[in-house]
Amino acid sequence: MSTQEERKNLEMLYEGKAKKIFRTENPEQVLVYFKDDATAFNAQKKGSVADKGAMNNAISTLIYQHLDKQGVPNHFIEQLNEREQLVQKVDIIPLEMVVRNYVAGSMAQRLGLEEGAKSPHTIFDLCYKKDELGDPLINDHHAVLLGAATYEELEELYQITDRINEILKELFLRADLILADFKIEFGKTSDGKIILADEISPDTCRLWDRETGKKLDKDRFRRDLGDVSEAYHEVHDRLVKALKTA
Ligand code: TMP
Ligand code: ASP
Repeated sequence: MSTQEERKNLEMLYEGKAKKIFRTENPEQVLVYFKDDATAFNAQKKGSVADKGAMNNAISTLIYQHLDKQGVPNHFIEQLNEREQLVQKVDIIPLEMVVRNYVAGSMAQRLGLEEGAKSPHTIFDLCYKKDELGDPLINDHHAVLLGAATYEELEELYQITDRINEILKELFLRADLILADFKIEFGKTSDGKIILADEISPDTCRLWDRETGKKLDKDRFRRDLGDVSEAYHEVHDRLVKALKTA
């Protein structure tokens, strides 16, 4: 089951904007296939980035292996090949946990702030995962009203997210990258445990070169900055190096 040839016989459970999910013989595991497709602004902008699937698969693998070592409960099982990885099957909690260490993106726009300043404290934004609504920003009370999580679960989610932020900030800094902000998602296992799920990659993080401030993430695609594929390769190469010298 480890080759792309064999994958063709597997039933596709879901196709997202950047990934496909396939059923495996094990009901507790699914196979994730990373595409080169890129979208932005709720898929109003569409394109393709050479090697993005392979880079995100590799980058997400490196990050999950690192988080796993630090004891963060997560869905990652193993990377199968260039484009595919095996993960634990979960019911995704329909919340996006956004963490902001710097002013950027939609928060800069919403608050009328210039992008680039470091926040004196960690900022958490909660979004409701619902494409039809454009993943709106919500608060804890809305999340509970929607049945997405209980107050107790939210507390747990904020705690794990804060810890993940500390681990990732340090990891990216070793790669001379500033983790300006990122988005993560969580899922529930069949026995009700909350674990980190979905990819962590330059699609889901804002990464700025520590020296120059150069954007090395999906903003290069969103904002037509050019050299998109090169940026994903650069992040990958830097992470490999940072983890080697750890
Ligand atoms: P935002 O500033 O556009 O709200 O994005 C915050 C972070 O979340 C940024 O690192 C990119 C990431 N993100 C996703 O992973 N998926 C999305 O659909 C969006 C809008 C942002
Ligand atoms: N992936 C999201 C979309 O296409 C948005 C983004 O990452 O900017 O809607």
